[in-house]
Amino acid sequence: MSEGSFDPVSRSFAPDAVGSKVHLRGWLQRSRSSGGILFLLLRDRTGSVQVTGRRDILGDDGFSAAEHVQVEGAVEVEGTVAEDKRAPGQREVRASTITVLHAGEPFPMFADQTEEFSLDHRHLAIRSPEHVATFRVKAELLRALREFLDREEVLETTPPVLSGNAAEGGSEAFQIDYFGRPGYLSQTAQLYLEALLFPHERVYALTPSFRAEKSRTPRHLTEYLHLEVELAWCDLDHLMEFEERMVEYVCRTVADRRPSELGALGRPPEELRKIVAPFRRMRYSEAIDRLVAEGFPITFGSDLGTAEERALTLEEHSPVFVTHYPRDLKAFYMLRSPDDPRTVEAADLLAPEGYGEMVGGSCRETDVTVLVERLQAKGVDVREYEWYLDLRRHGSIPHAGFGLGIERILRWMLRRDHIRETTPFPRTPSRHTP
Ligand code: 4AD
Ligand code: MG
Repeated sequence: MSEGSFDPVSRSFAPDAVGSKVHLRGWLQRSRSSGGILFLLLRDRTGSVQVTGRRDILGDDGFSAAEHVQVEGAVEVEGTVAEDKRAPGQREVRASTITVLHAGEPFPMFADQTEEFSLDHRHLAIRSPEHVATFRVKAELLRALREFLDREEVLETTPPVLSGNAAEGGSEAFQIDYFGRPGYLSQTAQLYLEALLFPHERVYALTPSFRAEKSRTPRHLTEYLHLEVELAWCDLDHLMEFEERMVEYVCRTVADRRPSELGALGRPPEELRKIVAPFRRMRYSEAIDRLVAEGFPITFGSDLGTAEERALTLEEHSPVFVTHYPRDLKAFYMLRSPDDPRTVEAADLLAPEGYGEMVGGSCRETDVTVLVERLQAKGVDVREYEWYLDLRRHGSIPHAGFGLGIERILRWMLRRDHIRETTPFPRTPSRHTP
């Protein structure tokens, strides 16, 4: 990347920068003038710095041109770094020239606008400091996850997102017209990862998943980024150990690499450093007992929804595993518990502080006849799953895997009220533009 003769804005804050000349370019976050002095806040990818421009130095024409640049207009600045107690970061750049690159039109975004307006202008709203911080942390989270998986020798693979069958059942799949035949947007890459497991033993994929649920909750998107891992020779305990080590690693790494962004978003990095394995494990039956004691009208067999998951974790500071769910609540491919035929070898990882499920995982059924029975019980056309059943006809072995919702874990890490704040262009039942 060529920076040319330009300096990053962050250069202005280097210990030895005071008194040196800098050549910056970027966008105006703020602009005002008073008494022949122009105060600009200039942003580039490395940060923001105050720029001052004096009429007697810039000249009448130069001053007037710079004064008319709108918020989010683009400029180039040559100047000298100076100490200034009143400026953000106690530095400012005293401009010798300000070149207008694009004065711009009045920027439509400002404080106190409605949520709808802001979502309609998402393409502009994402320039805000909160969004910048959020997506820097998201990038760091993805990097840390990939680092962890790479160190564990889990191979990154590229399963399809378009398919001729709806993996987890039809009702929540988006159907499309695939040249006159039905096609579906992927809800999970799991079945393909299971196929890829046989030659590679440890595989993962990071793909968008789509859910056609009309759930208008602060934790549901219709498109989200899904990290899915599939591990050969793995039982439920090993799966949970793997997940908790991974979550511990990414929390620590993000805390180390993005402390200021975390702090600015209301999550002190120390809190993430305290997320340390092992996490608490609770059987589904125990969760039901606790919820009944708290007055929830539920029994063994009821699904745990937003309110139930919230109640279970509101007082927790670390994630919690809920294990051994009733078979009928879960997908057809989950392995029946050896000690209790009513339950499956499944574990959901719930975020603390009431944020709810962020990982869903299980051991996979290895027996082809059991799988066929389960598919039939769910009223599914078994022929659609023939290719998947083949995996149990050629070297079927014990294996397990999980799916982690990137925006779900990020929502908890960043304490966002709504999951849409963790993705630049959120897709929800009421919105798929811009
Ligand atoms: O629990 P889910 O549905 O599990 C699966 O899809 C498995 N096939 C994954 C696997 O074992 N490979 O989804 C996994 C995770 C959830 O724990 C949640 O974090 C996230 O995906 N998720 C969503 N995130 C945002 N919006 C939604 N509508 C989501 N639905 C699930
Ligand atoms: Mg789930």
